Amino acid sequence: MRIKYTIPIVFFVALVIIEKENNIISRVSDKLASKQTPQTPIQPSADVLLKQNVSFYPAGKLSSPFMLMKRRLENYSDYWQGVANGRKDILLLATTRTGSSFVGEFFNQQGDNMFYLFEPLWHVEKMLTLETGGTNATAAAKAYRDVLRQLFLCDFSLLESFIEPRPVDHITASLFRRGSSSSLCEESICSPFVKGVFERYHCMSRRCGPLNLTAASESCIQKEHRAIKSVRVRQLETLRPLAEDPRLDMKFIQLVRDPRAVLASRMVAFAPKYNNWKEWAVNSDVPMDDDEVKKLKVNCNNIRMSAEMGLRQPAWLRGRYMLVRYEDVARFPMRKAAEMYQFAGIPFTPQVKAWILKSTQASKETDGVYSTQKNSAEQVEKWRFSLPFKIVQVVQKVCGPTLKLFGYKFVMSEEMLTDKSISLIEDVL
Ligand SMILES: *[C@@H]1O[C@H](CO)[C@@H](O)[C@H](O)[C@H]1NC(C)=O
Ligand SMILES: *[C@@H]1O[C@H](CO)[C@@H](O)[C@H](O)[C@H]1NC(C)=O
Ligand SMILES: *[C@@H]1O[C@H](CO)[C@@H](O)[C@H](O)[C@H]1NC(C)=O
Ligand SMILES: *[C@@H]1O[C@H](CO)[C@@H](O)[C@H](O)[C@H]1NC(C)=O
Repeated sequence: MRIKYTIPIVFFVALVIIEKENNIISRVSDKLASKQTPQTPIQPSADVLLKQNVSFYPAGKLSSPFMLMKRRLENYSDYWQGVANGRKDILLLATTRTGSSFVGEFFNQQGDNMFYLFEPLWHVEKMLTLETGGTNATAAAKAYRDVLRQLFLCDFSLLESFIEPRPVDHITASLFRRGSSSSLCEESICSPFVKGVFERYHCMSRRCGPLNLTAASESCIQKEHRAIKSVRVRQLETLRPLAEDPRLDMKFIQLVRDPRAVLASRMVAFAPKYNNWKEWAVNSDVPMDDDEVKKLKVNCNNIRMSAEMGLRQPAWLRGRYMLVRYEDVARFPMRKAAEMYQFAGIPFTPQVKAWILKSTQASKETDGVYSTQKNSAEQVEKWRFSLPFKIVQVVQKVCGPTLKLFGYKFVMSEEMLTDKSISLIEDVL
């Protein structure tokens, strides 16, 4: 859903920019260019910001967390050390509603050299969920780490112990979202379709029988690289043993998004769980000591602390960490995809480029709303028209340091919230 409604719309501008950067899509753009109207960037000038007093960092203090981070990232030959050699193990770390399925596709579509898994930790979280609805964070972190390590080594045995019902002879019809992993639907591991066996998460590309995890493991070993996407890891630091494991060559990509936009998106996507927020939005004051508010704060802090760890570049993470903002991917998907591949040290394949282009066109056809007038930044900031100012203030209060670090500007008034001439996204990372 997220991909369908949020990202595709912004592709038009991205296409034009990509076209300028390289000539791979000239045909597509030619077709579109005739309809294009010039885009005006909605980034306000420094002048405007100063006049409106919406500069959130004291004048002259360019050492805001975001500016520091940006400066650090600018010299990315230091930061990435993207050398295309050897097999890589890529972990895409995100939280829900940050575009991680879409970004995961950048790796899922790589072609024959990549073994990609979509949210394998779903099973682990499900089994470790307590009666209270949460998990013991310490126990879960350890299980996530151990399962991930095994999976990067093409070993499914620990994951199997979390799959319900338990696989028999390493065969399962219950692997979560199998169909979202092209590696698990390849011909070589597509066993004959069995009539009468219900597979909820079946392959889309071809009809397969239940998944043979022994075959999947063999296929994984044959591939040059592995990539896993997960929205479940809370703290990057818990994965240090993976980075230090000599059998692996870890590349962590942390995907983040404006917490205000994430909340707006979750209130729609997981509506029943967000009834309190909706109630607060309309009726009452937000009780700042409510569990929901505390949870938001914990989430924001976890994301920020992981990023701070990554940006500090301790020895164990050097060259292994990349921070990506959803807003940048949405506005410049091709460019960001290329950067991620460069970071990972893997050649950016024509298949990935083609997929990015294809999703653009497909969404254009199926989505009537795709109009040449739409400004990508406008789409990315659409939440500003659905999230009440009152709720925005709460997020800013509990997630302030997170917003600052990632370059999401604070909103000071209701007017500013819905003033399209003010972008709330600082620069491009
Ligand atoms: C803008 O901010 C400065 C410094 O924080 C303050 O002195 C000034 O009064 C503010 N102006 C307005 C119009 O709020
Ligand atoms: C950027 O990296 C280059 C090459 O590694 C180095 O010579 C230069 O000093 C770095 N600049 C900064 C500002 O760190
Ligand atoms: C959480 O799990 C850890 C390690 O398994 C255990 O030592 C601890 O007691 C657990 N905490 C709670 C609150 O159950
Ligand atoms: C599963 O795959 C393995 C390895 O390819 C194979 O030896 C085994 O016979 C398969 N199991 C079934 C039940 O097809």
